[in-house]
Amino acid sequence: MEKYRIANRVKDIEISGIRKLFDAAGPGSINLGLGEPDFDTPEHIKQAAARALAMGKTGYTPNLGILELREALCRKLSQENNLSYTPDQVIVTAGASEALHIIMQALVEEGDRVLFADPGFVSYGALAVMAGGRPDGLSLDSQFCIDPEAAKEKMDGARILVLNSPGNPTGAVEDKESIRALVEYANDAGVTVVSDEVYEHFIYDTRHWSAGLFGEDVITVNATSKTFAMTGWRLGYMAGPKEYVEQSLKVHQYCQACASSVSQYAALAGYTGPQDCVREMRDEYRARRDYLYGRMRELGFDFPVPEGAFYLFVPMKRSMIEQIIKSGVIVVPGEAFGVNAPDYARMCYAASMDDLERAVERISAVVG
Ligand SMILES: Cc1ncc(COP(=O)(O)O)c(C=O)c1O
Repeated sequence: MEKYRIANRVKDIEISGIRKLFDAAGPGSINLGLGEPDFDTPEHIKQAAARALAMGKTGYTPNLGILELREALCRKLSQENNLSYTPDQVIVTAGASEALHIIMQALVEEGDRVLFADPGFVSYGALAVMAGGRPDGLSLDSQFCIDPEAAKEKMDGARILVLNSPGNPTGAVEDKESIRALVEYANDAGVTVVSDEVYEHFIYDTRHWSAGLFGEDVITVNATSKTFAMTGWRLGYMAGPKEYVEQSLKVHQYCQACASSVSQYAALAGYTGPQDCVREMRDEYRARRDYLYGRMRELGFDFPVPEGAFYLFVPMKRSMIEQIIKSGVIVVPGEAFGVNAPDYARMCYAASMDDLERAVERISAVVG
């Protein structure tokens, strides 16, 4: 008998391929691997957290999150996304990650299929498995978008369709008509749409459409992590039909109790304070995207321009990916994001221009 027995549900899940790679990279490597803003959290947000600490706001908060923050989130969702939610339809969570987890736990029955883009964000499949579900990847077209008609074929009997626009790892932004079609097809088939909108503010050539505009059986997931460069604060939320909120809250209550109190006050300052910091970060990301995309095209890589998020998804063989990592630039092989894109690498350009320039030098030495 094994001495330390682990549940198969967890044992069979692979540790994220992204983290594994960092362990393999040499010292002095330029890290274009991690999907994390390189900016510091804006000052007024940090000050709000410091004030909350000074005022002793260090205890548990209501399970749903502090009312002021949920009210601010409802105003944000109304003004920016044209979505109508009340504070009792919002749960403040430990990042978008926890929101995705509690939704899957509350909605997915044993064996239920969970649909999402492949290549797609690493967590969807693992969280679906932990909830007893079966991940079912949707392949993407040449622009890295979901084909709504092909997706429709898979909807019968599925439980959840996760949409992620702008998308990780591709940077693709779904257009309004695709999102509308996907939500309508899903809801007609009894499939709940979970719309992961964490990159909504980082769109450069087009605009964002929230899935919740096009159907009622939709849960919106978002976070401060990317918007306000707050990944370490662990602050996100879900907003959706009350029935889902009530059930997801049970999971949240027993695994988390509440999101960090100090982070909630910081987030409140983020959502109610000046938004120029977000625009400044977006403009900076756009300049970096233009630079890196242009240089990669010059080096002969042919792929669609990513309209959002902060990633390039570049076609290259595994051997080249290994050489690039060896040369001191960490990128993530496409196999980390599913089964459909092994001959791609994700490059995150949330890095300084200086790092991007040095990375391009190293890559061009490899490409020759
Ligand atoms: C598409 C997507 N959703 C969710 C997350 C997780 O966000 P958080 O840090 O708020 O948990 C990430 C992080 O990289 C992401 O890329």
